[in-house]
Amino acid sequence: MDERIISNNLLIDDEVDATLRPRSFREYIGQKNVKEMVEISVKAAKLRNESLDHVLLYGPPGLGKTTLAQVIANELEVAMKSCSGPTIERTGDLAAILTSLEPGDVLFIDEIHRLPKIVEEILYSSMEDYVIDIVVGKDSGAKSIRVDLAPFTLIGATTRFGDLTGPLRDRFGIVHKLEFYNDKDLEKICKRTAKIYDYEAANDAIIELAKRSRGTPRIVNRLFRRVRDFADILGDGTITLDITKIALSKLKIDESGLDSKDREYLEGIIDRYKGGPVGLDTIATSISEDPRTLEDVYEPYLIQKGFISRTPRGRVVTEKAYKHLKKIYQGSLF
Ligand code: ADE
Repeated sequence: MDERIISNNLLIDDEVDATLRPRSFREYIGQKNVKEMVEISVKAAKLRNESLDHVLLYGPPGLGKTTLAQVIANELEVAMKSCSGPTIERTGDLAAILTSLEPGDVLFIDEIHRLPKIVEEILYSSMEDYVIDIVVGKDSGAKSIRVDLAPFTLIGATTRFGDLTGPLRDRFGIVHKLEFYNDKDLEKICKRTAKIYDYEAANDAIIELAKRSRGTPRIVNRLFRRVRDFADILGDGTITLDITKIALSKLKIDESGLDSKDREYLEGIIDRYKGGPVGLDTIATSISEDPRTLEDVYEPYLIQKGFISRTPRGRVVTEKAYKHLKKIYQGSLF
């Protein structure tokens, strides 16, 4: 069985326990700069009694884009309707959602870079002027009807800022990149999770979990749940450092938070391509993984750790990664 805790589905699908989700800025840990700026925009919109400008949140999966969107809606004291780019296939699907919004509501569109082109085009007028033009009838009888919408806030989320079209990007007044969390913030999130689940967790266990969670709240919470299982079965339910280490080693998560797929990726480049440079598609084929998943899910963390670099000629594994994997570095020409 595949034991990868950060396997595609686990990292991409958002099945985080709703009870763990912060509901307000006060409860929301980390992303200090983004939080500060968004908080001011929210307060100002409320003060002026206006709908908040449209917000675009981007960054690697698991960093809380959906969570932050929900916090924004809660703080604005409005309802949030959620959907995802690829699930809105027809213009009518989007029109139905847009016309159901109440004044000030938030519409959250996840994976907004994957909206079909014709659907995206409807968004332009709705974002700019709160109107949509709907075509009714067919052929020579077809005519366009203008429908007014309530002023609303679109919050778009994407892992691929570069895949957004210019016209869509330009229509967001507030644009923020979510960064990986530092260990201290992940420790706070983990402590909060332990408290919500009513588990005792030793400080050193929490530090270890945070260190191995690749800067990602979703992962720290998942690892916590797995370690909790071990604590219940192997011990008395207390989360100790020993139990944490046993669980993480069973899950094949190393001291830097890398899982077996990360190691397969790095070792694949080292063993087959002498550490690179090698193209993304070649790596993906050699380890049977989707190139987009490698690019969106695995590489951002490996880059941030300094284990790989992207060069114009392809990916290169760094000396630091060789050391981490205990492999002999023979130098790179690149
Ligand atoms: N759980 C997941 N993400 C969180 C965050 N940013 N703050 C608090 N709890 C969280």
